[in-house]
Amino acid sequence: MMAPNVTALAYEDIADVATYFSQQTRKPDEQKDESRVAEGQSLFYSRMPSCAVCHTAGSRRGMPMRGMMGGGMMGGGMGGMMGPGTANVPNLEGQRAAYIVDQLNRFASGERQGTVMNRMAASLDDANRQAIAEFLSSTP
Ligand code: HEC
Repeated sequence: MMAPNVTALAYEDIADVATYFSQQTRKPDEQKDESRVAEGQSLFYSRMPSCAVCHTAGSRRGMPMRGMMGGGMMGGGMGGMMGPGTANVPNLEGQRAAYIVDQLNRFASGERQGTVMNRMAASLDDANRQAIAEFLSSTP
């Protein structure tokens, strides 16, 4: 859906749009099921590799993807605009649970192609995806 919307943007426009969005604050979804949130939190940090190695959540920052994403795995090209070593990894905090579940389902089915997320998502079952999504969406 996004391709036709972004092809007309110049690099400076993309940078401006990115800056604008990076300054917005997200409102966490209302927390619904405490035990599912706790389960999601545990899944988010305890899986191998931990989701938090790449993504950040709450006050516990993920490790920056130096080397791995900046140069090697994703190639030099994608790191270019943001500088080498900067994580090109989406921030999932406060993201809507429904959106996260939808993206994980799309990664798992291959409908959305990512660099690393297809196999990550495929290793989660439906209940795992829902729990992780509820944890992330309740993280300010
Ligand atoms: C090795 C780094 C890495 C790990 C580990 C990782 N991710 Fe990701 N994730 C990414 C990258 C990079 C993207 C952007 C899409 C892509 O390139 O695959 C992404 C995208 C996503 C998205 C889509 C976000 C959006 O805005 O569309 C979700 C949701 C997500 N990851 C959840 C998870 C969960 C849950 C786990 C743990 C099971 C996890 N990720 C583990 C790197 C990682």
